[in-house]
Amino acid sequence: MKDTHTKGDTIMDGIHEDLESSGISDVKRNNGWTSPVYSRSCQRIIDPKILSENRCIGVFSDLSETGFYKILRTQVHQRMEAMGWKTIMVTSLRSGEGKTLTAINLSLVFAKEYSRTVLLVDSDLKKQDIHAYLGISSEQGLADYLEAGRDLADLIIWPCIEKFTFISGGQPVQDATELMGSPRMKALVTELKARYHDRYIIFDVPALLEGADALVFLPLVDGVIVVTQAGTTSRNDIVKGLSLIPQEKMLGFVLNKWQDYRLKQEKNGPGSMRAFIGKARALFKKKGASS
Ligand SMILES: Nc1ncnc2c1ncn2[C@@H]1O[C@H](COP(=O)(O)OP(=O)(O)OP(=O)(O)O)[C@@H](O)[C@H]1O
Ligand SMILES: [Mg+2]
Repeated sequence: MKDTHTKGDTIMDGIHEDLESSGISDVKRNNGWTSPVYSRSCQRIIDPKILSENRCIGVFSDLSETGFYKILRTQVHQRMEAMGWKTIMVTSLRSGEGKTLTAINLSLVFAKEYSRTVLLVDSDLKKQDIHAYLGISSEQGLADYLEAGRDLADLIIWPCIEKFTFISGGQPVQDATELMGSPRMKALVTELKARYHDRYIIFDVPALLEGADALVFLPLVDGVIVVTQAGTTSRNDIVKGLSLIPQEKMLGFVLNKWQDYRLKQEKNGPGSMRAFIGKARALFKKKGASS
């Protein structure tokens, strides 16, 4: 693997050593693709039943719902490949619209296909619930690296899913914005991007319009996915969100919880569904955003 480590930068040196000692720089050949050897990452067994209950369905290839994440994966991958991008920030406009579940499922479907490995980083420092969705308890997360100087390698969890690792856990952090925009965070993203040519790093970040965390983090990532909730996300919020995200970083919108909304609308008759589709198209076309 390519080593673009820069000597002389103490933060970079630290990160480099963390990654080296995690064993992630080692590789093994496996049916044509190259898999990291997770010699130091914390290994946990994942329970498929919990994944299914928590809607982490990206591992279940035969489910029809997984198909939607695969379409998203293909669209994102094409743009990422074309641009030579590696980092994706998943955010929404308001909380609770489905960014964590989207980030998890997108990571899982990426890991399932393509030769890319995926590192999912729980960057919602006030919450850090990715590990809970995956049914794995974890006492440490990104904040322990940023704030307490823990080794990155100690924080990376491998849930025995090929090509997929994640960082999530620990106590909620109140001054999260400061950490998200800190030099240590910047150095971490730079190093992760430079070091692995075949890895996507997906960051689950708080809502864009409910604090400054996503805004301060935005300049560090290549592409942005904005999760919206069918029937809930307002036109005003979409317009505000688009004014904050540089257009060249915009990977697109995800219209989430569509099925739930569709079922509700069907009860109200076909007219209301047609009206919703018309409104949604108009919203997502605004300012040239893709959806
Ligand atoms: N596609 C979906 N279909 C049905 N329910 C969903 C879907 N996506 C998310 N949910 C549910 O919506 C709730 C919020 O989801 P999630 O935690 O992913 O949102 P979030 O945007 O990360 O929230 P927060 O801002 O609180 O971090 C959860 O109960 C989740 O199970
Ligand atoms: Mg979340």
